[in-house]
Parts: sequence; C-alpha cells; structure tokens
Amino acid sequence: MKKVFAKIISVGLILSMAGAMAGCTSKKSMTVKKGTLTMATNAYFPPYEYYEGTKIVGIDAEIAEAVAKKLDLELEIVDVEFASIIAGVQSNKYDIGMAGMTVTDERKEAVNFSSTYATGIQAVIVTEDSEIADVDALLAGEYKVGVQQGTTGDIYMGDDVGEDRVVRFSKGNDAVLALSTGKVDAVVIDNEPAKSFVAANEGLKILPTAYVEEEYAMCINKSNTELLDKINQALKELTEDGTIPAIIEKYIPSNG
Ligand code: ARG
Repeated sequence: MKKVFAKIISVGLILSMAGAMAGCTSKKSMTVKKGTLTMATNAYFPPYEYYEGTKIVGIDAEIAEAVAKKLDLELEIVDVEFASIIAGVQSNKYDIGMAGMTVTDERKEAVNFSSTYATGIQAVIVTEDSEIADVDALLAGEYKVGVQQGTTGDIYMGDDVGEDRVVRFSKGNDAVLALSTGKVDAVVIDNEPAKSFVAANEGLKILPTAYVEEEYAMCINKSNTELLDKINQALKELTEDGTIPAIIEKYIPSNG
C-alpha cells in the first residue's frame, strides 16, 4: 500500500516536471520566425510599396518598419502575388499582409485586420483621347477593363460589368501597359498608384469621378490576437506621435 502510494507520487512528480519543462521550451513565438516580423506584399504599387533598386520602399514598408521596431522585431518583406497574400497569412507563412490592402467583409472572414492607417479610392485610368468620360459611361459601355488580379478593383468590376469584360493582370503596371497598347479601354486601380502610373506613362489620364472609397489595413492570422493587439497598440502610438502622418506626407505631399 505504502509502496504504491510512493510510486503514484513519483509519477505525478515526473509528470509535473515534464509539464513545467514543456511549458518553458514550447512557449510559442508570436511570429512565424522568432525575432522577425514577416510581411507579405506585392511591390508594384507606388507609393505604398515599390522597388528602389533592390530595396522595397514606400508608405507600407516604412510603417511596417516602425511597427516592427516598436515590437522589437526585425522586419522582413516578401514580394509575392497580391492574390496569394491572404492565403499565406492564413497558413502562417507570413505574419502580416500589408499591401495597400482594402478592408472588406469577405476578407474579414479569412483574416483579422489591424486598425486602418490610410484611405484609398478606386480610380479609373483611360487614355487621354478616350471617349469614356466618367465611371457611369465605363459601366454602361462594352468596354474592357484591366485590373490587378484579386484586388477590390477586380472584384467590384466583376460584379458591376461582368466577368467577360474584366481582364486580369498579375501586376498593376501590366494592366496600365495593356491600356497604353490598346488591349483594354480602362484600368481600375487605387488612386495613388494610378497617379504614379499616369505620371510614368505618356497619354493617360484619371477620370474625375471616383469609383469606390476604401480603407487600408494590415491583415493578420485570425488566431494571432496577441500580434494583432500589439500591432494596433504600435499603430496608435505611431499615429499619436506623428510618425505615421509624417510617413504618409513624405510620399503623398498634401500641398503638391
Ligand atoms: N486596395 C486594393 C485591394 O486591397 C489593391 C491593393 C493592391 N496592392 C498591391 N500592393 N499590389 O484589393
């Protein structure tokens, strides 16, 4: 009787020790790669993310850098297809997606969004000599519309003009190139990238009427609420101390 009791105690002890050890060693890192904040983006979207030489710069890159610093993490930016960002965040390949990404109800079913840090507008680019005068004319006609695959421009256009009038491209600038060469009649894309594409390509203009207004946020895996909370706290502090407004002003000067 005595012996059995002792045995039970020692088994219990071993089990609790093992539990304690497991507790120490398996404390899961908050990020996919310990010490690193892995951000997925699609880096052909100025001024939010674009290449300067081999480096990805822009509003998103700089805000993410500031957030990572607050969280004591090293920022690593991965450039992928826009349409694959959410799935990669869901499968824990990346910690965050940050790509001028619009918050939508449908995406909210797949991922969590941080608080928003910028607003966007879906704009319409046409050639300077285009007969398309406004968004209504675009929707009413038989025109072909170029979009970046998986973006809200793609989704909304598919709904509004029908699948067979939407031509999808993996990068925004490929859609703009198709417009310049007459393969599509218009491109629907976010306003700020639209401005830089129009500035970089002869003979294009943005229609004066906007298509849809949106809000941008980072997306994060639904189960990683610890990271979500920390990011939101960092965004709040960086907004209050003027860091985020200054980054946005640097890339989108309000009086220029
Ligand atoms: N705001 C749009 C969306 O969320 C387009 C974003 C495209 N971003 C990019 N980095 N290519 O669908």
